[in-house]
Amino acid sequence: EQMRDYKKGLASRNHILCYALKANSNPSILALARSEGCGADITSGGELHEALAAGISASKIVYAGVGKTDGEIRQAVKAGILMFNVESRAEIESINSIAGRFGKKARVAVRINPDVDAKTHKKITTGTARAKFGIPISDAIEFYLSSRPLKNIEIAGIHSHIGSQIVSVAPFVSAAKKIKNLVGKLESAGFKIKYVDLGGGLGIRYRRGENPPSPESFVREMFGVFSSERDLARTYIFEPGRSIVGVAGALVASVVYHKEVLGKHFFIADAGMSDLIRPTLYDAYHEILPVKKPRAKTVTADVVGPICETGDFLALSRKLPLMKKNDLIAVMCAGAYGFAMSSRYNSRPRAAEILVSDGKFKIVRKRETYADLAMTDL
Ligand code: LLP
Repeated sequence: EQMRDYKKGLASRNHILCYALKANSNPSILALARSEGCGADITSGGELHEALAAGISASKIVYAGVGKTDGEIRQAVKAGILMFNVESRAEIESINSIAGRFGKKARVAVRINPDVDAKTHKKITTGTARAKFGIPISDAIEFYLSSRPLKNIEIAGIHSHIGSQIVSVAPFVSAAKKIKNLVGKLESAGFKIKYVDLGGGLGIRYRRGENPPSPESFVREMFGVFSSERDLARTYIFEPGRSIVGVAGALVASVVYHKEVLGKHFFIADAGMSDLIRPTLYDAYHEILPVKKPRAKTVTADVVGPICETGDFLALSRKLPLMKKNDLIAVMCAGAYGFAMSSRYNSRPRAAEILVSDGKFKIVRKRETYADLAMTDL
């Protein structure tokens, strides 16, 4: 539904909807993205491998990231991806020399850091001055001009991504206006900006009362900024991750113990920060629902995991129905950056992934075993 909502907004322009694999790269999700006509936004050689394995065409793949290695650049040049979103002088020089060795011209967009505060968590804010990402907007023209002599580079576009879980269009619009203004200057300087990549970042509703714009209305607002005759001829790329898969996933866990100390309640679950690190890392709020009919009595409790860290929690001070051993809980909105950021910390095999669709379910990733923990040990 979310992919289709994006496409409704995009339909009036040349576009590529590049699903950001980092949010959730399970092959069944990638197959869905491919069947809906999506391309991919990748951030590593591993994601390139996964996108191609899922049948996503290289001609619809864009590659951002501040630390692309020579090996990863070779891999992407060989595959013939649509575009590198370059983040530094040293990187564009590497791409130039590697493309030259293959006798190819690599297409690039320059990732511009527009210096806009996305008003989201500081760890997922990327577009403020002095962030590690992109080229500061104040240096942009100079960067394009000095890249012009690079023989194996085709400068074809511009890219910007200002952060994630952004719930109002205002920061997007202000970044887009700065980008639009820059595009005008670049074209006056003789560059042809065919691709305008506006990144990802649209937020989702984690809690009641939050009202992020729909993908369709978000895209329309962006197109409102790019509305001149020249703009109509460009190709627009969006790179959504969270807004595609976030609300579609839940982490299901069972309660192992109910513990009460000094009047404080803990529900200890068999899932924790190694399965869903967002609460620990970003103080993120995820709604917790009992899977079966809740008991009438409620308590205020911390929902914690089994990991040996005080920071291992799924929810703090949450009013919840009383729960007992073996009760199942669903931690909502875990479809994006849930499994993708999971680990085997404390030597806990990672969870299974189940795809539910049209009332049917299918196991799309096996639960890991102890043998998996030792798979690469020598
Ligand atoms: N494009 C680029 C260049 C990105 O860096 C990202 C996300 C996206 C697109 C997709 O953004 P989205 O539509 O999903 O917001 N782990 C954090 C989020 C990190 C986002 C990193 N970059 C979290 O769980 O909140």
